[in-house]
Amino acid sequence: MGTLNKDYFDNFETELTVFSPGRINLIGEHTDYNDGFVLPTAIDKKISFSFRKNNTAETCNVYSKNFDAFLQFQLSKISPSTIEWENYILGVIDEFLKRNASITGFDCIIHSELPIGAGISSSAALECGTAIGVNSLFNLQFSSKDLITFSRDAEHNFVGTKCGVMDQFAVVMSEKDHLLLLDCKTLTHELIPFNFSPYKLLLVNTNISHNLASSEYNKRREECELGVKIIQQNYPEVTSLRDVNLDMLNSLKSDLNETIYQRCNYVISENIRVKQAVKSIKENDLNSLGMLMYASHEGLRNSYDVSCPELDFLVDFSKSYQLVLGARMMGGGFGGCTIHLIHQDFIDEYTEVVSTAYLKQFGIKASIIGVNPCQGCFTQS
Ligand code: GLA
Repeated sequence: MGTLNKDYFDNFETELTVFSPGRINLIGEHTDYNDGFVLPTAIDKKISFSFRKNNTAETCNVYSKNFDAFLQFQLSKISPSTIEWENYILGVIDEFLKRNASITGFDCIIHSELPIGAGISSSAALECGTAIGVNSLFNLQFSSKDLITFSRDAEHNFVGTKCGVMDQFAVVMSEKDHLLLLDCKTLTHELIPFNFSPYKLLLVNTNISHNLASSEYNKRREECELGVKIIQQNYPEVTSLRDVNLDMLNSLKSDLNETIYQRCNYVISENIRVKQAVKSIKENDLNSLGMLMYASHEGLRNSYDVSCPELDFLVDFSKSYQLVLGARMMGGGFGGCTIHLIHQDFIDEYTEVVSTAYLKQFGIKASIIGVNPCQGCFTQS
């Protein structure tokens, strides 16, 4: 085939449509790769994929409507690209091929409603939608958990971010009107009914994404692993920070440098907060839930050091309004969104005041995104 262009996708007869949502995380940040607990869910904003087989042995053609860009590749010659969005797709296909999955040429059109770099996992949505689409198009019979793992591994191997499993798990396994309490060690989960009425979840997107995100992310992971190594010298049974409590950590304070101590302290405390948050939700105690969100942000800002002035501003701004019960940065950090627990009658007014204040402070327009817990990926044929 010659150079790919838009005409190739004219009169596209879709064999399979996949919808792959973004995700929010109520609490439990940077705990997933420490075998801890997280409380995310998929949201009502998504990426749509239209797939068809194209009767070639190995030529695959992908069109991204958002970027108005094409990707063509041969299944026998997959390697990482210099273009980031391509790697999420290529990385997933590579995971299938490593397992000798029987795939032939296919075409795919992708259209996303998810802002990039906002911390709502457009990357996991892209990976998981690709994985679920290819699995279904070629009737490959991999399980949901396999597809979650392929998607996570694609990000490690092709993108280079050593992420945990939260995003991919939430994107695939979430259910409408529920939060998903995931134990990242056992990969077991509990669905927690989400009924916060008259409160809602609101995201405020800083619309900035500092380029530290990937390198600092991997560095945090290494710092935690180093902490575990030192702790293991006294507690050989420990395999991750999940197995460490604050007493154990404090007994070793003099063996750990201050940075490593702060990182470990944050992760252990955040795991405790996730469990407390679930208890508060079950008891319908949204005030306590809000306080836990604020405490999570303090830890991310002061001990884990993954926040930035824009995120801190948005969280601090919330604190002056009683009708906002809690707020925190969400996702990896260094930009992206804050998540706010806010009274539904106050959303319009708050949108106005926070947008004005943020613009005045940073000269940047924030975006406000209302979110509702939704079902994870699904297909239509
Ligand atoms: C990113 C990663 C996740 C998780 C969060 C922080 O979204 O992809 O695995 O570690 O950051 O909680």
